[in-house]
Amino acid sequence: MQNKLYIKDKKLNTSILIKKNHISNFIINIAKKNEKVFCILDSKININLNISRQKNIKIISVKCGERLKTFDRYKNLTEKLIRSDVNRKSVLVAIGGGTLGDLVGFVASTVLRGLDFFLIPTTLLSQVDSSIGGKNGINTPYGKNLIGTFYQPKDVLIDISILNSLPKREIRSGYAEIVKHALIKDYSFFCWLEKNADRLLNLNKYILEEAIYRSIMIKLFYVRKDEKEFLLNKNSRAMLNFGHTIGHALESHYNYKKLNHGEAISIGMVTEAKISNYLGLLSSNELERIITHFQKCKLKIFDNIIKEKLLIEKLVKDKKNFLDKINFSLIDKIGSSIFYKKLDKNNIYKILQYINV
Ligand SMILES: NC(=O)c1ccc[n+]([C@@H]2O[C@H](COP(=O)([O-])OP(=O)(O)OC[C@H]3O[C@@H](n4cnc5c(N)ncnc54)[C@H](O)[C@@H]3O)[C@@H](O)[C@H]2O)c1
Ligand SMILES: [Zn+2]
Repeated sequence: MQNKLYIKDKKLNTSILIKKNHISNFIINIAKKNEKVFCILDSKININLNISRQKNIKIISVKCGERLKTFDRYKNLTEKLIRSDVNRKSVLVAIGGGTLGDLVGFVASTVLRGLDFFLIPTTLLSQVDSSIGGKNGINTPYGKNLIGTFYQPKDVLIDISILNSLPKREIRSGYAEIVKHALIKDYSFFCWLEKNADRLLNLNKYILEEAIYRSIMIKLFYVRKDEKEFLLNKNSRAMLNFGHTIGHALESHYNYKKLNHGEAISIGMVTEAKISNYLGLLSSNELERIITHFQKCKLKIFDNIIKEKLLIEKLVKDKKNFLDKINFSLIDKIGSSIFYKKLDKNNIYKILQYINV
C-alpha cells in the first residue's frame, strides 16, 4: 500500500483519505478553509493535537460508547453547539468510534438544517464500516438506530496509527465487520482473511491497510448502488445488514451492556448462516468453514438468548420488518448474499430451536 490513498466519490460527494500520522494536519486544513470548527472528541482518546495555531477550533470532549446514542446526549451536544454560537459556516469534526460518528452525523444533519461535517474514525470498526456511507442515528428503548438520517460526511480520514491504543476486544469487534464484507461479497477476500487474520488482529500495518481498503470498497459498492436502501435485490444496501437482524436484537436485549456491536453481529452472522443452512441455501461445508474461522479468531458465535421468545419480539421491532414478518439478508455462499423476504416470526422461533451451540 502507498503511503496515502485517496478515494473520491463524485456521486456521494464525499472523499476518503487513508494516511498515517495525519490527524493534526487534517484538522488544520479544515480550519484554514472554514470559519469555525467544532472538534467533537472521544474522551478516551489520548492524542496530542498539534492545532493551537488555529484559533477557530473548539474542542468538545465527550464520553463515548453505545450510551452516547440517546436523545439526552443528542440534546446536550446540540445545545452546547448553539450556546457556543454555531452558525451555518461552522463545521463539525468527529474524532472517535462509530458511536460518536453516528451521533455527530445526526447532529450535523439537523442543527441549523445541516452543517458540513468530517469524520476521523478511531476504531477499526468505524474505519472499515460506520464512517462510510452516510448513515447516522441514535437508539431508542424500542430498538437500535431507529432515529437518524442519511447524510454524507465531506471528508473521512482513516489513520491507522490511532488504533495502537485500541483494546483487543474492540479490534475483534471491527474485524467482525471486515469478515461480514468478505462473506457477503468477496470469496477471495475471505480466503485472504483466513490466511492473514492473525497478523491483522496483531495490527500488522500492511495487512491492516489492505483489509481496510478492501472493506471500504465493498461497502462503497452497495452505498453507490443503493444509498437510501430502496432496492430489494443482491445490490441492495441491506446486504450489509447480514448478521445485524439478530445482532441488533441482542444488543437491544442486553441494553447495550453485555455485548459490543461487533460481538453481537458475530453471533448474528453465525446464527443467520445457520438459518440459511437450515433453509437449504448455504451448504453445511461452508457453514463449518465460517464457524471454524470465527472460532480461530475468537469471535463470539452463540448466546443463550438466541432460543428465547423475547428475542423474536425484538426482531419484529427491526426497521426492516412489519406485520410479524422478518426480513433477513442471508448468504447463500461464502462471498454471495441474498435478500430473504418475510420469514414468519413463529417459523424463525422454530428454526432457532434447532440451532446448536
Ligand atoms: N453508520 C453506520 O453505517 C454504522 C455501521 C456499523 C456500525 N455502526 C455503529 O457503530 C457503533 C459501534 O462503533 P465502535 O465499535 O467504534 O464503538 P465505540 O464508538 O463505542 O468505540 C468503542 C470503544 O472504544 C473507545 N475508543 C475509540 N477509539 C479509541 C482509540 N483509538 N483508543 C482507545 N479507545 C478508543 C471508545 O471510547 C469506546 O469505549 C454502533 O453503535 C453501531 O451501530 C454504524
Ligand atoms: Zn454493523
